[in-house]
Amino acid sequence: MAASFLVKGQQRLTGKITINGAKNSALALLPAALLTEDKVKLDNLPCITDIDKLLDIIRSLGASVDSPGDRCLCIDGGNVDRFSPPDTLVNQLRASYYLMGSLLGRFGRAEIPLPGGCDLGPRPIDQHIKGFSAMGAKVEMEHGFIKLTAGELRGANIYLDVVSVGATINIMLAAVKAEGRTVIENAAREPEIVDVANFLNGMGAQIRGAGTDVIKIQGVKNLHAVEHSVIPDRIEAGTFMIAAAATNGEVMVEGVIPRHLEPVSAKLKEVGVTVEAGPDFLSVKGADLLLPCDVKTFPYPGFPTDLQPHMMVLLLKAPGVSLVTENIFERRFGHIDELRKMGARITLEGRTAIIEGGHNLTSASLRAMDLRGGAAFIIAGLMAAGDTVISNVKYIDRGYERIEERFQDVGVTVERMEDC
Ligand code: EPZ
Repeated sequence: MAASFLVKGQQRLTGKITINGAKNSALALLPAALLTEDKVKLDNLPCITDIDKLLDIIRSLGASVDSPGDRCLCIDGGNVDRFSPPDTLVNQLRASYYLMGSLLGRFGRAEIPLPGGCDLGPRPIDQHIKGFSAMGAKVEMEHGFIKLTAGELRGANIYLDVVSVGATINIMLAAVKAEGRTVIENAAREPEIVDVANFLNGMGAQIRGAGTDVIKIQGVKNLHAVEHSVIPDRIEAGTFMIAAAATNGEVMVEGVIPRHLEPVSAKLKEVGVTVEAGPDFLSVKGADLLLPCDVKTFPYPGFPTDLQPHMMVLLLKAPGVSLVTENIFERRFGHIDELRKMGARITLEGRTAIIEGGHNLTSASLRAMDLRGGAAFIIAGLMAAGDTVISNVKYIDRGYERIEERFQDVGVTVERMEDC
């Protein structure tokens, strides 16, 4: 059943919120769990539809999944005996490409449907393939599937032409049981990569350098059981920080790793917002007058592309001209047309959006087209005069757990309406 959100306008966030486990870590940890025949326990998993879809895929391969408690799963990959998940399941979830690395790493075989593009532009996986090929895998593309076969994977030196989170993680997954040493150069440095490396090292892998641009993996024969808790979701945390700033609110975001939010905190301070950090929390206090600023998305520790739409909405409130440059994805500006329906004054020149801020937004009917743009529309609705309706919220549910209730927890009204 399709659903929409009704967002009441001119509200401000107040109160405390505890952040959930990171989607973009969990989506890699679940496939990584298949690298061992032992049982793996994962805690602090977010309850989002992308995880549900990935669990269906993992079960389809023969793994069993038990849930001993809230946000906690036990994955038993001992009985995995298939290397090709059904494309009907895989096509719904881009991150299923991590099964290439984990099935190749465990069995020397994987047959995965080519992941589709999406609203962010083309999503090639040439760097993933470059790594697998360098380790000796044979790569065939037929009927929309990638077929990977390798007798014995061998460690290799791999230089990534593009700083890629997915390729860095996927190569790590394939390399942990390969013969010899693999070095990934120009690796991505995102915290989720470090979380996956820590998880794998807990299983007995030998990975050094995760979080830097050179990662060294010494192959081992076997991996064993491990219990692991997913790191907090820096993008969910940033979403509520920016929402607090955009509504001149006052919010304590708890259960975070403040270092992971450095680029967001720095930009919010530039805009005139007060951000104070504790050991595991960030407090955000809005300001009556926001200042325009320039934002450029870059790989971590640069400003995260996943918070670019949210930052654009915030800058609509800052009188003056702000620039938002998207350096990661070719087409991550789909949200601009929808924001223009609310009176947003944005012009696009290549990869840079020129924002004329300081003009009030008015409510409108918006259609979410991707996960993060949809979340940014909620923030815009909270700022606008009148009530905004956001349809297609299935995209938002992919990566945000019960987001309407989470916003209600910090004092604002966002209602889910099941479309009849
Ligand atoms: C991950 O996607 C995240 N998804 C994305 O979050 C995030 O935006 C992105 O990293 C960048 O941080 C998950 O972790 C599931 P990339 P990924 O490979 O791994 C190009 C969200 O909203 N590239 O780092 O697919 C690519 O086209 C999602 O939570 C190649 O050219 O991103 C892009 O321009 C959206 N060849 C750039 O690199 C390749 O082989 C970065 O992509 C791989 C990537």
